[in-house]
Formats: sequence, structure tokens, C-alpha cells
Amino acid sequence: MHLIKSPASLGGEIQGIDLKKQLNIEQIEFINNSWDQSLVLVFKNQNLNDSDLINFSKNFGELDPPGPNPYGITFLPEFPEINVISNVKSDNGIPIGNLGDGEAVWHADMTYNELPPKAGILYALEVPDGQGNTHFANMNHAYEDLPKNLKEKIIDKVLIHDSAHNSAGMLRKGYTESDDPSKTPGAKHPLVILDPNTNKRLLFLGRRPHAYIVGMEINESEKLLDEIWQYATQDQFTWTQKWKVGDLLMWKNLNVLHKRDSFDPNTRRVMHRTQLKGDVKIAS
Ligand code: OGA
Ligand code: MN
Repeated sequence: MHLIKSPASLGGEIQGIDLKKQLNIEQIEFINNSWDQSLVLVFKNQNLNDSDLINFSKNFGELDPPGPNPYGITFLPEFPEINVISNVKSDNGIPIGNLGDGEAVWHADMTYNELPPKAGILYALEVPDGQGNTHFANMNHAYEDLPKNLKEKIIDKVLIHDSAHNSAGMLRKGYTESDDPSKTPGAKHPLVILDPNTNKRLLFLGRRPHAYIVGMEINESEKLLDEIWQYATQDQFTWTQKWKVGDLLMWKNLNVLHKRDSFDPNTRRVMHRTQLKGDVKIAS
């Protein structure tokens, strides 16, 4: 097994391992070390069923069940720990998964919780050729490179992370719309947090829509957030996954943002996903 690091700010591919087989301690350690370095790892040409995906995921922590979806249903009743990300609808018109075919804006998953998941693991079952790419951005590097004046503006600030909408902008079941960001429901986290692995600072942005910096005038908060987001999502901090069937991808949810491109609604995209519970309190 070996790691091929991307020349980009993050991302790496691990080759030479069949994830259907039970991993041994050395293999888990190799993957963990590679993951610490690259923040996003991809394994290609895998052939996993739902139990395999769950078994693989559990090597890296405790599973965290999916958040509420707009339809209020469990997509895979047999495997409630698995989330489905798909544009496909069943015969009765009910979506078989989340996020449809539109763009999913830059975000980290479920940061509207006090203890957000530490990782997402996404496995491609069906993908449209050359579309629906997923981009990742390295928030360790974004913070390191942030201009000093911006660092000073945000160092003690706390951000509200919206729990009402998913990354496709759809309202989750049980929430109502509001256009006042200071009333956004969701956890409050420091804008700059400490990386639990390295103790270095990183930007913790969650998602841009409905975000609010506590205590600021709304227009000031909007302006500062726009400035930080524009800086943090520049190309030099990003890496792109171009999906093929059988790709398994895992990302460090606190360290990176991700977004997904829209794709042709007449094609099918089906991904199964697990996530890992956060194990350390978020600290600044
Ligand atoms: C997710 C997500 C993007 C994608 O699973 O959390 O944002 O590429 N998915 O489907
Ligand atoms: Mn996501």
C-alpha cells in the first residue's frame, strides 16, 4: 500500500489495498498517517457493499448517524447509519437520497451541532461521466495564509452555523425560513479553532448562507464573512475529486470545506456515505 500525494494544497490517493478485506493495525496506521498529511484520501476501484462500507468506516472511529433530511425519512432502513447522496427518485417519486442534482455550496457537514462529525466517507456507486465533481479546500492553509488584518478581525469571533438548511439550500424538515441571520438556529463555534491533531489554528467556516458573527451589525458580519470566504476558497487551497464508480473518499470534516458541482438531471448519481463522530470538543 502506498500514498500518492497530490501536488495541490491537500488530497492524496492510496493505492494497493482492497478495502473489502479487514484491515490490520499497520494498514489502519498507514491510512491514518496519510490522512493527517493529505486531509482528503481517495481509494479507487473498490467493490464495497453497505456492510463493507460500515466495517471500513469503523476502523477510524464511531459512526455518526445522518442529520435530518428534507423528507424526514431514513433512506436505507436496513442501514440507518448510512446516508444516501443521490438525485435518483424511486417509482413513487420519492427521492432515494439527499442533495438532488444542483450545486452543493461550500460547506463542512453538520457543523450546526455542538460536536460536528470529524469525518465524512463517501463511496460512489453510480456517477455521471465527468460531472458532479466534488471540490475540497484546506482550512489549515487558508488560515496560515490569511492576511494579518483579517486574522486580527476574526481571532476572538464566534460564528453561528445554520442548522435549518442543507448544503443544497433546502430547508430541513421541522424548520422555518428566516431572512435575519442573527436569528439563525444552530451551534456557535469560534471562527478560528485549534486543529486537534497539530494544535495549529485553522478557519472554521461551516457554510456561508445564513451564517452570522455574534455581536456584529448584520451588514458588518456579512461583509467580513464575504471577505474571509473569498480568501479561503481560492484555487490555491483546493483540490478536486473527479468521480469514477468504485471510488471511496474520506475527508477530515473540521479541516476542509467541500462543495459539489451540479450535473445533468437526466443522469444518475448514487453515493453511499458514512460519517464519524467528533471525539474532541471544538476549542479556540
Ligand atoms: C456530502 C456531500 C458531496 C457530493 O456527502 O456531505 O456534500 O459530492 N456530498 O455528493
Ligand atoms: Mn457535505
